[in-house]
Amino acid sequence: MTKNKKVFLNGEYLPIEKANVSVMDRGFLFGDGIYEVIPVYNGYLFRFDAHLERLENSLKLTHIENPYSRDEWREIMLPLIDAKKDQYIYFQVTRGVAEKRDHAFPTGVKPTVFMMCNDITPFDGKEAGVKAISLEDTRWSMCNIKAITLLGNILLRQQAVENDCAEAILVREGYVTEGAASNVFAVIDGILITPPKSNFILPGITRDVILELADANQVPYAEDIISLDALKTASEIWFASSTREILPVVELDGQLISGGKVGRLWHTMNDLLQTYKTTYANSSAQ
Ligand SMILES: Cc1ncc(COP(=O)(O)O)c(C=O)c1O
Repeated sequence: MTKNKKVFLNGEYLPIEKANVSVMDRGFLFGDGIYEVIPVYNGYLFRFDAHLERLENSLKLTHIENPYSRDEWREIMLPLIDAKKDQYIYFQVTRGVAEKRDHAFPTGVKPTVFMMCNDITPFDGKEAGVKAISLEDTRWSMCNIKAITLLGNILLRQQAVENDCAEAILVREGYVTEGAASNVFAVIDGILITPPKSNFILPGITRDVILELADANQVPYAEDIISLDALKTASEIWFASSTREILPVVELDGQLISGGKVGRLWHTMNDLLQTYKTTYANSSAQ
């Protein structure tokens, strides 16, 4: 924890040491809340509207009141950002502090809003590629909500780490859903494929950007189901997320992918993403 780091809590900017939440907060007792993560490049909030749209959807699906308009959310974020660094805004909204612990929604409570900004540190081993493990997707069936209740994801990521892997590839009834904290892409028979949006995956913003870049640059792509068997024949596999960007997989379940080397399309797509980020930061109005 960085000492004196400024964070936002319920309408105030405070040093992180002074930002306290009640033990009766529904986020603490039940994990009853949702969150968002927005990358910030050169001080620009990357795909702000797409992230806010996903936040609004998570709030709607959980029946938590949205305390702020999009403009107000942006205003709250700006003082936390250091424009000289690549950073990300993390923010969460819980249902609030209730008088007693009861599963059903309390009445008359105000949501708790917490926000902080952290540096993005480049992911170790990105250029060389990472190892992945396939695991049964044991999570619930509302994975399209960006819920703070991440126990399922945490247990799966931990299992990956304990197997010397950077991430897990989750499989439900024989088909790939996503990573523990990322979306999955595969190149199969020369086509870039990612599972379609559904209640079994989080609709990743990086995922959308990759599909748009593929479309604009004549990369053949499809949003389609991928069986674990088909994934094992892939010439490339990637994870995609806001903080790790596009992470190439060079080994799955102990078997080399693309000969254990980072694939050609990953280099192309990674270059396209880096250029897009720079162009975006230089052109968008904040
Ligand atoms: C389960 C899950 N899927 C996908 C993603 C990727 O989403 P995004 O690209 O918006 O970061 C994340 C990001 O944290 C995630 O937790």
